[in-house]
Amino acid sequence: MAWVLITGGGTGIGRGLVHHFSSISDLSVLTCGRRAAPLAETRRTAPRPEAITIVACDLGTAEGRHRFLEPLPPEASVRLLVQNAAIGDPAAVAELDLKHFEELCRAGALCSVE
Ligand SMILES: NC(=O)c1ccc[n+]([C@@H]2O[C@H](COP(=O)([O-])OP(=O)(O)OC[C@H]3O[C@@H](n4cnc5c(N)ncnc54)[C@H](OP(=O)(O)O)[C@@H]3O)[C@@H](O)[C@H]2O)c1
Repeated sequence: MAWVLITGGGTGIGRGLVHHFSSISDLSVLTCGRRAAPLAETRRTAPRPEAITIVACDLGTAEGRHRFLEPLPPEASVRLLVQNAAIGDPAAVAELDLKHFEELCRAGALCSVE
């Protein structure tokens, strides 16, 4: 079974992607977000809920990034990773809050999974 990994699948574009890929019969979808309730709603409203594994975790932490990947079987074939999870409010660079910007960068740092 091939897997598609979609971060931030509890809302918006991520939910749409989870629904799309989980409707394809030979794919399993792994998704995450910090809040469990929106993720459960994504799975509940999907065409094939049984194809979806949800993990409530914070990708901004090393522990959360490991937790996200834990459900993957050791020999899993990962066909696609969509790094969709993000935070951030549009603003001029001069007005950016540095702490918020750093948090934004951590949420997108999937490449730092050891
Ligand atoms: N909508 C647009 O017009 C637009 C335009 C250009 C680009 N984009 C990009 O498209 C992507 C999705 O946009 P969207 O509008 O669908 O946004 P959204 O509804 O806010 O979805 C972002 C998702 O990321 C999750 N998330 C945020 N921080 C996380 C973290 N630290 N760990 C795990 N999950 C986290 C959120 O869930 P939790 O809060 O539960 O963690 C949320 O479900 C984003 O990357 C955005 O920048 C969107």
